Amino acid sequence: EKTNMALIFNKYNDRIATLPKEKGWITENLYMYQGFWHQSKRRISVETVMAVHDTFKARPTDIYLATLPKSGTTWLKALVFAIVNRNRYKHNSFSTHPLLNSNPHNCLPFIETEVFRNTPTYENDPHSPRLFATHIPYTSLPRSILDSGCRMVYLCRNPKDVFVSMFHFANKLRDKSRGSMRFVEAFELFSKGVMPTGPYWDHVKSYHNVSLEHPTKILFLSYDDMKIDTATHVKRLSMFLGYPFTEAEETDGAVQEIVRLCSFENLSKVNKHGNLREGIPNDAFFREGTVGDWSNHLTSEMSEILDQITEEKFHGLHISF
Ligand code: A3P
Repeated sequence: EKTNMALIFNKYNDRIATLPKEKGWITENLYMYQGFWHQSKRRISVETVMAVHDTFKARPTDIYLATLPKSGTTWLKALVFAIVNRNRYKHNSFSTHPLLNSNPHNCLPFIETEVFRNTPTYENDPHSPRLFATHIPYTSLPRSILDSGCRMVYLCRNPKDVFVSMFHFANKLRDKSRGSMRFVEAFELFSKGVMPTGPYWDHVKSYHNVSLEHPTKILFLSYDDMKIDTATHVKRLSMFLGYPFTEAEETDGAVQEIVRLCSFENLSKVNKHGNLREGIPNDAFFREGTVGDWSNHLTSEMSEILDQITEEKFHGLHISF
């Protein structure tokens, strides 16, 4: 896998050298490709967007979960994995469920990280549907996904919580030699749209627009709504994905069981120790898991600035958070 990564990184070196650059949050730089900022030489990076374009083959039965980093990707992965696979683990009330001993990121991969494998697990995946996540903006998705007509779920989260969450995440994952990122510096970058797979607003809008045009293909959800009433969203997700709960399941409390299994309390306990990969501790994906933590970090001036940008960029869109 390391050799594959090196080969892919080298292949695109010349193209990356021509791209506009900005200061990175975790890695040193971010590069602008097709209107969005990406890291380089990482699993989720500008090189992987290019490699996915060149090699990834979607199937019409695939399901894709798209998010900006820190919008609740880990939670959505857990919920969708649990809903779609519930009959595989339901005996003994889920006591052998992978989510009870493994990170959701190990249960449902990003297409970006799969392209590095010699034999990508997805090529011979006997399961249908295949489940994938991605941070790639809609406008940079490979044709193969766009043309396959498969279903997608987009999860957005209010920009202030995404920013605060990203700030803490970046400081956990940054090379120690770079020192910590200052809050004000992070705020300036975020407001300019500079964050991995940002600008925040453009990413959300790109998926929101298509979800309006093709509501049966893209389900647009918000973290903030999902926190208020998770059970209703589990049911919505299950219907959209083609795995509706039967009446018997509902009476048996199957929805509540999935809500509990995927709750912040449960997942953060399971992922207290160990690493997802070298340099990425499992617990980096579980911090507060609440709505509105931004109010403990942003000054009122910062909050107003972000409100104003959001108002301008989302003008006329009905996005609830
Ligand atoms: P906070 O940093 O605000 O706590 P992502 O998964 O896209 O990287 O997003 C991470 C954010 O989702 C973090 O937000 C994390 O705590 C929160 N999160 C992780 N698991 C969750 C869960 N099961 N329920 C609700 N929020 C969760």
